[in-house]
Amino acid sequence: MARDRRDPAFLKWVVLPFFVLLTFGRVSCETDPLSCLNSDDNDGIISTPGIPFCSSKDRNALLSFKASIISDPNNVLADWRASHYNCCDWTGVTCDGATGRVVRLNLNSQHLKGTLNGGLSGLSFLQVLILMENDFHGSIPASFGAFSRLQRLCLAENPSLSGSIPETFGRLKNLQLMDLYSNSLSGPLPSSFGMMSSLRNIHLSGNKFSGPIPPSFGLLSNLYNADLSNNRFSGHIPDGFAFNLTSLMFLGLGENEIIGLPKDMRNLTSLLLIDLSNNPLMTGDSVEGIATAPQISQIDMHSCNISGHFPAWVSRLPQPKWVNDEVTPSLNLANNAISGRIPSSLGNLINLELLNLEQNRLTGSIPPSLGKLQNLWRFNVSYNNLSGRIPQVSPFTTFDKSSYQPGNPGLCGVPLTPCK
Ligand SMILES: *[C@@H]1O[C@H](CO)[C@@H](O)[C@H](O)[C@H]1NC(C)=O
Ligand SMILES: *[C@@H]1O[C@H](CO)[C@@H](O)[C@H](O)[C@H]1NC(C)=O
Ligand SMILES: *[C@@H]1O[C@H](CO)[C@@H](O)[C@H](O)[C@H]1NC(C)=O
Ligand SMILES: *[C@@H]1O[C@H](CO)[C@@H](O)[C@H](O)[C@H]1NC(C)=O
Ligand SMILES: *[C@@H]1O[C@H](CO)[C@@H](O)[C@H](O)[C@H]1NC(C)=O
Repeated sequence: MARDRRDPAFLKWVVLPFFVLLTFGRVSCETDPLSCLNSDDNDGIISTPGIPFCSSKDRNALLSFKASIISDPNNVLADWRASHYNCCDWTGVTCDGATGRVVRLNLNSQHLKGTLNGGLSGLSFLQVLILMENDFHGSIPASFGAFSRLQRLCLAENPSLSGSIPETFGRLKNLQLMDLYSNSLSGPLPSSFGMMSSLRNIHLSGNKFSGPIPPSFGLLSNLYNADLSNNRFSGHIPDGFAFNLTSLMFLGLGENEIIGLPKDMRNLTSLLLIDLSNNPLMTGDSVEGIATAPQISQIDMHSCNISGHFPAWVSRLPQPKWVNDEVTPSLNLANNAISGRIPSSLGNLINLELLNLEQNRLTGSIPPSLGKLQNLWRFNVSYNNLSGRIPQVSPFTTFDKSSYQPGNPGLCGVPLTPCK
């Protein structure tokens, strides 16, 4: 075991509820090297206050943006005036030292209220647009697809920002980071989505996106982290999805209406973590493709309404392994309706650290083969109908009683009462 149990990152897991995913959304926005925040120092853009000649095209684009702001309580746009000629000096604006063109606009968390004026796309040299945590409403203008140099688009946490992602976004060939979480965006993802070929991080959680994931998504060969959770995405994830996502490590699909996964996920060679929790239309067999992902280590499928026998693909899983602190080899099938026995082959996943089977309809005994799971530190089978002897080896004898009960009145042995 590579991990030091005194490591604070380990303790973090102990105190948090089961399987809280720290990888997605707001947290990664701050900790990822490609984040919208904390990034101003390392994106290679040279800040140059005092550049004398701001381009009139950029100045006009910024003034049209300002014209659609109806409330600016912090007065951040007070110096955005035609008479204050050099727009490179305006609050939130950064120009390139050599060209004098605007390359970054950062008005993060300023309580700005208004609509996003399409005229902003006149900033044809823009690389970074940060308007997150404001109060923009209306939709994202189609003209934003003209930001051909844009690398980071951060419009997250504008709760009234609505409408869909414009089809024109397929033209954002340099976009690496798309932070649109916690807005009110809706509709299907545009079919052009997969043409944003530089995308590395996508955070779309907490919106109202619907419909199937477009097959073109599978062309995003640079994609590393995709959080699509807490939306209304539906249907089967198309087979095309698994075509070329060779860099994808973290995939968040929780809280949607997804029915199943591609059968063959061999090309997802980097995938470590998948969250499918709270997709109530799933069946155990419709996600069997998961077992073909060569490195999959952390699987969360709690609350998916899976019924019937224990999913057979579990015994075909590759050996989950510890790779870094963001991934804990784990299997969470809690709060489903799985019946029958726990397969003894589960004991072959010897690196497993967390195993959660609570709140199902499992019967029979806990297979003695689970004694091979020597790295397990969280285990829960409460609220089933298991019986017989708990494997009388560590760590099973050291788990709290609440790992086994309530439920399972027929279980016996340490830490419960002795078997008769
Ligand atoms: C698949 O991804 C690789 C890079 O990982 C890229 O070179 C190749 O062109 C992609 N293929 C398609 C069909 O998109
Ligand atoms: C995996 O990638 C290879 C090479 O790009 C491609 O030929 C194959 O169709 C892909 N498999 C799937 C299931 O998408
Ligand atoms: C759960 O699955 C059963 C069928 O197995 C179905 O009748 C029920 O409606 C599903 N529940 C939800 C919340 O979708
Ligand atoms: C629990 O399992 C036993 C057999 O081991 C069975 O007799 C009993 O009916 C089950 N109880 C429930 C509530 O399913
Ligand atoms: C196991 O899950 C039950 C709820 O189903 C919970 O009450 C209990 O505290 C959990 N025990 C552990 C050790 O996680």
